[in-house]
Amino acid sequence: MTAKTITLPNGRNMPILGFGTWQATKEELTAALDNALAAGYRHIDTAPVYENEEVIGEVLERWIHSGKIKREDLFIVTKVPPTGHRPGGVSKWIDKSLNALRLSYLDLYLIHTPFSFEEVGDDLHPKDEEGNIKIDTNTDHLAMWQEMEKQVAAGKTLAIGLSNFNEKQITRVLSHAKQPVSNLQIELHVYFQQKEMVSFCRKNNIAVTAYSPLGTRGLVKMLGQDEKIPSIMDNSVVINIAKKHQKTSAQIALKFLIQQNIVAIPKSTNPVRIQDNINLFDFELDKEDLKELESLDRGTAARICDFNFFKGIRNHPEFPF
Ligand code: A2P
Repeated sequence: MTAKTITLPNGRNMPILGFGTWQATKEELTAALDNALAAGYRHIDTAPVYENEEVIGEVLERWIHSGKIKREDLFIVTKVPPTGHRPGGVSKWIDKSLNALRLSYLDLYLIHTPFSFEEVGDDLHPKDEEGNIKIDTNTDHLAMWQEMEKQVAAGKTLAIGLSNFNEKQITRVLSHAKQPVSNLQIELHVYFQQKEMVSFCRKNNIAVTAYSPLGTRGLVKMLGQDEKIPSIMDNSVVINIAKKHQKTSAQIALKFLIQQNIVAIPKSTNPVRIQDNINLFDFELDKEDLKELESLDRGTAARICDFNFFKGIRNHPEFPF
């Protein structure tokens, strides 16, 4: 199945449906990626903090070497970790990612978070004795963006963007950027539709990618919020629309995003669900469906990934929420 694409300012097409790999373990990812590539996914989203770039690199190399896939048909996204926000950090981390992914260039490189951590060896999440994350308050977004632009000039990535930044932070970067901010990756799903941010991005020609587009049950469980935060998949409105179109609830939740030109990167390691999640291009939600789904928005109250799992992170001057 060929997924629909959106066009970035550099003229490159980004598949609107990507394969999310956050919370996929190394062990399960090889088979999951094989299934995803066979199902037609070409856009793969990763990050050093997911600790799975090596595995992705192995699978991509195998597919490319066997001739089953061409590099130019893939759209690979990774990110500068919060420990890389310092002079030389961006070039160091992009080289590490390219090496792990066994690629000579990325399609899109993002600054993963607006806040920064101290660099302590290779520790991606350095903490003090009390378990507080070691924040680095010397964050300089403009200097970071200049470093990002250098990676485009060096041919190491075709486009650059941001993740988890708020509107004020993005506006500041935009006012100094020489290369376009091509993409913003944020938590976005039926319960947290981020309408203002989506509209801001549209005005500024920034493509929006929804992470946790299915409401990230994995993280909800990890945070012990299973009872408190309801599942989108169990919502009666979503279930009824799914029945009407003979689709699954997950397919409705994803279609709701991509039909609005929002890129979605669902994660699954289950072969049936991997297939289901890309099987979205043979139906359309009608106006009534869209209206009903829009009414499920709970605003920021429905944010799941608030980064409070990094103890003390709210003390960072660039904490975005
Ligand atoms: P699994 O990997 O076992 O399929 P998100 O992308 O919002 O973070 O959601 C990922 C979570 O949703 C994972 O727990 C994943 O589990 C589950 N998931 C992915 N696809 C589907 C689907 N089609 N139906 C139900 N659950 C899904």
